[in-house]
Formats: sequence, C-alpha cells, structure tokens
Amino acid sequence: MYHAKLDQFPNDFLWGSASAAYQVEGAWNEDGKGPSVWDNFVRIPGKTFKGTDGNVAVDHYHRYKEDVALMAEMGLKAYRFSVSWSRIFPAGKGEINEAGIQFYENLIDELLRHQIEPIVTLYHWDLPQALQDEYGGWESREIIEDFNNYCVALFERFKDKVNYWVTLNEQNVFISHGYEQASHPPGVRDRKRMYEANHIANLANAKAIQSFRQIILNGKIGPSFAYGPAYAYTSNPEDVLAAENAEDFNSHWWLDVYGWGEYPKTVWKYLEKYDLAPTMEAGDEALLKAGKPDFMGVNYYQTATFTASPLDEEFVNAKENHDGKKGNFVENGNAGLFKRKRNEALETTNWDWEIDPTGLRIGLRRITSRYGLPVLVTENGLGEFDKLEENDVINDDYRIEYIRKHIEQLQAAIADGVDLLGYCTWSFTDLLSWLNGYQKRYGFVYVDRDELNEKELRRIRKKSFYWYKDVIWSNGDRL
Ligand code: NOJ
Repeated sequence: MYHAKLDQFPNDFLWGSASAAYQVEGAWNEDGKGPSVWDNFVRIPGKTFKGTDGNVAVDHYHRYKEDVALMAEMGLKAYRFSVSWSRIFPAGKGEINEAGIQFYENLIDELLRHQIEPIVTLYHWDLPQALQDEYGGWESREIIEDFNNYCVALFERFKDKVNYWVTLNEQNVFISHGYEQASHPPGVRDRKRMYEANHIANLANAKAIQSFRQIILNGKIGPSFAYGPAYAYTSNPEDVLAAENAEDFNSHWWLDVYGWGEYPKTVWKYLEKYDLAPTMEAGDEALLKAGKPDFMGVNYYQTATFTASPLDEEFVNAKENHDGKKGNFVENGNAGLFKRKRNEALETTNWDWEIDPTGLRIGLRRITSRYGLPVLVTENGLGEFDKLEENDVINDDYRIEYIRKHIEQLQAAIADGVDLLGYCTWSFTDLLSWLNGYQKRYGFVYVDRDELNEKELRRIRKKSFYWYKDVIWSNGDRL
C-alpha cells in the first residue's frame, strides 16, 4: 500500500524507551532482594560472554534519578521498565519486602514528576529462585497463584500512578530458550516440558489480566510478544506453506491465546499426534478466554524467512553469535514443518540479525487484521558496537538510520489503519545483554563500562540521543 500523504502521529503518542530490571539495576542482593534464577544462571561457567553478570549492571538502582533526568532532558513520553519479583517477594511469596517495592515507587514518582508515563512490565524473566527450587517455577500450576498475588500487590500499590502494564515479556523467548534450547534458565531441553510450562504461563498471564480488571478500571494491560513475522523464501506453494507453518508454530501459538483465548488448531493437532500437547484441565479454556488484553505489545527486531523441510531432514545445531562476528547463520528449523533461510534481500547486524523495517509494518498489520487490538511497540532497536571517541562523542549514525527507518514504517502502518499507542526503543541507557555482555549496545546513552571493568559507569549522550529528542519534540515530523 502506498500513500500519497501519511497520517500524523497522534498527539498522545507514547514516544518511549525500555529496559529490564536484571539488565540495568544491579544491587542484586540489596535491601532484602532474594536471588532470581538469572542471578544463579549467569554463574554457570561458559553461559555468558566473558562470564558477565548483572550484579552491578549499569547501577540504575542507585542512579535512577540521574537516568530519569536524562529521560526528561530528552523529552521522553514513556519509560518501560520491569519490576524484579524477588525484590517485592524475596522468596516469591509471603510478606512484601517494603524496601523493594519502595524502590519502584520512587522510580515511578520520579518519572511522574517529569511527566513521563511509566509502563510497568511485571515479568521480564527474573523468576525468584525460591519458586524454581520449591516447585520447578513455570512447570507447576502453583505459580499461577503466586504470580497473581505478586501482580495484585503491584496493582494495589500503583493503581493511581501507573496506567500501562505489561504482563509477561517475550513468553515465547523465555519458554523456548529455557526449555528447548537450554540457553536461558532453567537450562532444560525437553519439548514436552516446554509445552506444559508454556501453557501454565498462559494461564498465569490470563489470571493476572483477570485480576487487573477488578482493581484498575481505566488502565491498559497486555503481554509483550517477540514477533518475527514469517516470510516464504520463494513463491513456490511449498515454501508458502512452510511460512504458514512457521507463523502458526512460532507466533500464533502464543498470539491466538492472548488475542482469542484459543490455541491454533493445526498446531494443537500436530502436538497431540506427537504426544506434546499440554494438559488442559477443566476451567483452563474459560480462564484463557477471560484474559483478553487491551493491547498487543510487540517486541520487534527481525523477520524470518522459510522454505519447506522434509520429514527426514536433519539440522545441525544453530551456532550462537555472542561475539558480534558476522556470518554465523546456519539453516535450522523443524523437520517436516519449515527450515529457516537467510533472506538475501536484507542486510544483517554484526550479531546476524536481519534488518527489516518493512517487516515491522507487516507484523503490525497482521496483528491488527487478526485480533483487532491496538498495538504498543514495546521494544525495537539496534544492538551494535559503539565507539567512545575523544571529548565524549559517540557517532552512532547506524542506530539513527535503523530507528528512523523503523519509525517511517510505523507512520505508514498508522496510515494503513493500525491503532498504534506508542513506540518504545530498546534501550534508553546501554545495559547488560543477557548472554552478550556489554559490547552489544542498544542505548541512546552510553554507559562507560565493559565486561571486565565497571569503571565509573559514566553516562554519556550519544548522537542518537539528540536525534531522538528532536523526533519526540516534533512528534515524529522531523526524522
Ligand atoms: C528482547 C528482550 O526483551 C530484551 O531483554 C533483550 O535485551 C532484547 N530483546 C535484545 O536482545
């Protein structure tokens, strides 16, 4: 669709930026915080680049005022951050740890003082270790009640201050990496367990939304999904079918549950055949249907391109790129369903992520047409090496170019009919990349530290900081 003239961004458009507790806060054991599964996972030798951990991260816990002042200087309209469950309930449940919840209250107050809308993510992967030990975390239905109690504690405390809430961040990522690829905690490789844990996470998500409806009447809540829209490698119908398979298995398997409270039939039938389907108990269906969100949160980084794969195809394990040296792509997939190919029409980042601004528009349109929900882009950004030059200069023109092209596609998506609430870049300051240390930077604000040396953790504005400031100031007119 080409438009002779694009619509303006709405006046209340949320120009934002995002982060996650484990990646920015540090203070991993302060003020009564209990350990999370990430605090322990990163200590397993070989798991992270150069053995990095989030003990200090970028010390946002102690420097949040300085960080919010920079947000205010930039004119940010919204800041998405996550709450660390084990700060609120050190053992995952029980008594509220007042010092922990107070930190978030201070942060929220500081944001509101600067007219920055807080967008609170309830779960960004840092499960309290105690719940993992007690009942296997997401593998037990006990978590539904514990997660609900934790969410209710936050809803009650912040109902007059926070309008936008995100339930689970990238459920598809933490479940598949946690239970299929073993690259995230709890480091399991078992597809049966993965589908069971995922179903329980769906129920927990729906239950939290159901509770939200009782407590916060005017707020908005939704999940954040890591959406990589699927393309067919060629117009050969076999490839088109493979892309449909990928869209069903990799995206609709989650999105349909969020949007409609139903699993896609094709995937369900396939899983039943292979004895992988999760256990449906009485009441599950009704709960999933009661958990409809107000918006679909989308974390968008890239699309994925697929060709057909025969039943007897064997794949070698995908090589993970944790050092930013391009060229690691290996074809991978699911025999009999699809095989992922490199899309030669697209450039990649140094971490082999395909750069595809149009894919963002395509994804937003697919969600709009399928679910009829408003969309909030909860993450999008470029992870790259940045160079700190003399006189505190960082010329990250590549990041400006990346974000500009994505914003252009947002505007086109609005003209197409997408109801877009806002756009949160990933990230505001540089932060810890879970498995990739500090070399893969995403921020508008450089944080002067590396894997081996925390240095002074100085905050330095990058060129993109001034550029995004102007974008916000002109409400997207000046890109
Ligand atoms: C998605 C995750 O939510 C975030 O934590 C991560 O750092 C970014 N993607 C970049 O990989």
